[in-house]
Amino acid sequence: MKNLFDLKGKIVLVTGASSGLGSDAAKAYAEYGAKVALLARRKEKLESIAEEIKQLGGESIPVQCDVTNEEMVKNAVEEIIKQYGKIDILLNNSGVAIKGGVHNLTEEDWNKSMNTNVKGIYLVSKYVIPYMKEQNYGKVVNIASVNAVIADKDDLFIRHSYNASKSAVIGLTKGMAASYGKHGITVNAVGPALFESEITKDTLFKSDEFLKEYSEKNPVERPAEKGELNGTLIYLSSDASSYVNGQFILVDGGVSIV
Ligand SMILES: NC(=O)c1ccc[n+]([C@@H]2O[C@H](COP(=O)([O-])OP(=O)(O)OC[C@H]3O[C@@H](n4cnc5c(N)ncnc54)[C@H](OP(=O)(O)O)[C@@H]3O)[C@@H](O)[C@H]2O)c1
Repeated sequence: MKNLFDLKGKIVLVTGASSGLGSDAAKAYAEYGAKVALLARRKEKLESIAEEIKQLGGESIPVQCDVTNEEMVKNAVEEIIKQYGKIDILLNNSGVAIKGGVHNLTEEDWNKSMNTNVKGIYLVSKYVIPYMKEQNYGKVVNIASVNAVIADKDDLFIRHSYNASKSAVIGLTKGMAASYGKHGITVNAVGPALFESEITKDTLFKSDEFLKEYSEKNPVERPAEKGELNGTLIYLSSDASSYVNGQFILVDGGVSIV
């Protein structure tokens, strides 16, 4: 029987693979049989994730790159093509979550949010999509956030540039999906809610009051557990989702519907 989730023979590029959701996803891709290009700025972190993947019996390469820098992105994609010959799956996951509202955000922070969370997806996709078109096959998954569709009114957790950038990811996903479907490429977005990671461990996960309030508000009455994003990512990256295109799937325990 064909396993629709099997990723054997596939090459995956994961951005933001040096920590959190990206490193978890990279390991899951390797477990499903794919070879993984691990991209981020911190090389040592990438090397240690590559070592973990090796211990799991998988294969990966670390690729140091800042997704906001076009020259670095171009070189990184070329390096992956040189090593693996193709890219079948692109997980655009690199992101920053900068605190602040329009009344107190610096222009520098605004630009950092938009450049990392939106321009980064544009740049990496710009260099990967031509290879996907050439092979008439590709799966692109863009990481947005539940905060693309809901905001927090508590001043402690105000993040307007994050809200704006993650909403933009959904728009970009729809545009890409509409254009590249005819080339055998699907493009979808995912909206995680609260997962523990470098972004959240010293902020949201440090506040017992926030965690209690969040859990009370969420239908499943808890934050996400490690690895709970992977099922959706594997689904959207595999042939199980061959006719799913331009969609935004929330992985949020239902917090956005109450
Ligand atoms: N954790 C959550 O609750 C949650 C909820 C919703 C959405 N998300 C989204 O999930 C994604 C992953 O976040 P996370 O929670 O796993 O946080 P994280 O542990 O801080 O991971 C962020 C990743 O992005 C990379 N990155 C940041 N700026 C970069 C740049 N300029 N170039 C290349 N890579 C860059 C970081 O690597 P380097 O620093 O090594 O470059 C790191 O690997 C983000 O897009 C985030 O917005 C997270």
